[in-house]
Amino acid sequence: MVIIRAAGAADAAGIQAVYAPYVTGSPATFEEAVPGLAELRARMAAAPRKPWLVAEADGEIVGYAYASAHHARASYRWSADTSIYLAAAVHRRGLGRALYDRLLAEVRALGYLNVYAGITLPNAASVTLHTAVGFEPTGVYRNVGYRLGAWRDVAYFGMALASPLPPAPAEPRPWRPGTDLPAGDAHGPDGGGGATRDGGDT
Ligand SMILES: CC(C)(COP(=O)(O)OP(=O)(O)OC[C@H]1O[C@@H](n2cnc3c(N)ncnc32)[C@H](O)[C@@H]1OP(=O)(O)O)[C@@H](O)C(=O)NCCC(=O)NCCS
Repeated sequence: MVIIRAAGAADAAGIQAVYAPYVTGSPATFEEAVPGLAELRARMAAAPRKPWLVAEADGEIVGYAYASAHHARASYRWSADTSIYLAAAVHRRGLGRALYDRLLAEVRALGYLNVYAGITLPNAASVTLHTAVGFEPTGVYRNVGYRLGAWRDVAYFGMALASPLPPAPAEPRPWRPGTDLPAGDAHGPDGGGGATRDGGDT
């Protein structure tokens, strides 16, 4: 049984375990040192608080997705970045889609109006996931990072969460973790259960 639920401070170790292999061995993230638990908890609690979700299979965190500020300056405050990482063992079972569907619903409900994601190229899984949930390509930063021995391109994707955009937007609200939800039809690591198909930052 896979559930998707709000992440809390106690989940920092599980999130770190999922993220660490990407820091040490993948250009999907440009972070070069695995963040410690206190640092991860600080990111989760950063004000104004934004959603952090985990996918949990039989008590083990197998993936997470979160929103963060797009940029610090005030006029960007209706725009959020989104990121997602899943343990390799659970790729391609619909969990990415299920996590992102829930994340985007929560971000939209808080009053954010645009979301963005940067994807180090190539990354067919991430490009397909972002496109499948409605992101559109906005441009590519060529050779923007030197990571794991090579210069890397990062493609940016964006999506409006409201159309038309309001001429005088209400302030986004801080996230308050809600209730746990089952992950729909997603196939868990045991092959059963599972996230429905309809349901990083670099
Ligand atoms: C990117 C990632 C989150 C996708 O999650 P996932 O659970 O494997 O994806 P899903 O099973 O939900 O599939 C979502 C879509 O992507 C497609 N997809 C998944 N993996 C794919 C792959 N390797 N190649 C091509 N398409 C792929 C699926 O077919 C599906 O498309 P559809 O909705 O049109 O059928 C996951 O692969 C991952 O954690 N990758 C490593 C970390 C990473 O790159 N994170 C993103 C940083 S920008």
